[in-house]
Amino acid sequence: MVQPHFLVVTFPAQGHINPALQLAKRLVRTGAHVTFVTSISAHRRMSKSPTPDGLTFTPFSDGYDHDFNSTDDQQHFMSEFRRLGSKNLTDILVSFANEGRPVTCLIYTLLLPWAVTVASNLQIPSVLFWIQPATVFDVYYYFFNGYGDFITKNGNDPSWFIELPGLPLLTSRDLPSFFLPSNTNLSALSLFQELLENVVGEAKPTVLINSFDALEVDAMKAVDKVNLIGIGPLIPSAFLDGKDPLDKSFGGDLFHGSGDYMEWLNSKPESSVIYVSFGSISVLSKRQMKEIEKGLLEIRRPFLLVIRKPQNGTEETDSNDMEEVRREGMIVPWCSQVEVLSHLSVGCFVTHCGWNSTLESLVAGVPMVGFPQWSDQGTNAKLIEDVWKTGVRVRVNEEEGIVGSDEIKRCLETVMGEESGEGMRRNAKKWKDLGREAVMEGGSSDRNLREFVDEIGTEKS
Ligand code: UDX
Repeated sequence: MVQPHFLVVTFPAQGHINPALQLAKRLVRTGAHVTFVTSISAHRRMSKSPTPDGLTFTPFSDGYDHDFNSTDDQQHFMSEFRRLGSKNLTDILVSFANEGRPVTCLIYTLLLPWAVTVASNLQIPSVLFWIQPATVFDVYYYFFNGYGDFITKNGNDPSWFIELPGLPLLTSRDLPSFFLPSNTNLSALSLFQELLENVVGEAKPTVLINSFDALEVDAMKAVDKVNLIGIGPLIPSAFLDGKDPLDKSFGGDLFHGSGDYMEWLNSKPESSVIYVSFGSISVLSKRQMKEIEKGLLEIRRPFLLVIRKPQNGTEETDSNDMEEVRREGMIVPWCSQVEVLSHLSVGCFVTHCGWNSTLESLVAGVPMVGFPQWSDQGTNAKLIEDVWKTGVRVRVNEEEGIVGSDEIKRCLETVMGEESGEGMRRNAKKWKDLGREAVMEGGSSDRNLREFVDEIGTEKS
């Protein structure tokens, strides 16, 4: 068997870079060589933590080398990304072949369906790395294979639900936001359609999923024209299997903050702190932030709140009565989330339910208050509340269009309450243990990844 050379190419967003980089590190551990490719601007912003031998970086231009601002035209960015990405990725693959280090397999994350064409033009196998749960993959699969019209027609009806094979009952608020009549991002839906079309077939192509078998037993096997393989949770080793104690961060942070919150966390009693973060993309309105802060102040527990620095053109979410908020809690522009969630003082995570945040919380055994915003997050919140039972989901006041402080307080009291939260804490501990087992040597995800690497190596030898 030859030593495989994987090229992992990722969309330049935090939620894609983190799991892709962690996957790259795990592939290196199996003895493979990995080249990690993302845009020049993302590569420049990434914090450079120590990387293992066998992992190298080759950034490419997406036409936005200065950086992408939220005021920039998203459509233009995506089409430039496709045009320049296709050309530059082809050049990279060709130059590796010319140097005698041909790429054995190209692994690409969401939103890059064009990577398949680049690879097939050069007769290189390609594999999709799905950075959301298997359940969400399945929902997209069903949407594009027979259920699309039915879902679109009924998505406005709050009393409607759908039963899809292998999945829990889903109401409209549990579906990916791109399906709903309110969706204005039609290009996102067509990108997902292209992605799915590329990976569905009688030969059951492999799709790597950042999840693990025990977490999504039925969803992993629900669709018959794709082979979903759980290889997660992809979390830095120091917090997971301890195999590499130096692997303490994803190493790909596009945002930066100081580390002074660690001392603050150290001063707090066990399981007392509420950690609040909405990931790397969502921007909440000033009105919504005010309600969150009010709820946090009223519950009278210490809290660590992440408020990212506003990008050009986004609403300033910086607070309404910062002085009082700062007195009671701590506000940071960014933190090492895996480190925070693993800290003993953290007892609850108020999260937008991005898939990375959800997995990180599961693996740290921290119960959640789900506060989904868009994309896959409604489905993830459904799983947290009703399937894994490790948290609750906020109810939106439909008239006001926001979640009120009373509701936030109610959810926090439920999750952190001695009696009301006991079951959730027990379940959180169960998923923490199962998640760790999956990636330990011989665990399901470890085995799945090694088998995948062996297969790729054997195909080439
Ligand atoms: C995006 C989508 O919005 C999400 O729905 C999808 O599942 C993945 O891609 P994002 O919104 O950024 O991701 O959320 P999430 O998936 O949670 O990823 C955020 C990452 O940033 C996490 O790995 C988290 O650990 C990290 N983070 C966040 C920090 O390290 N520090 C912070 O202060 C906040």
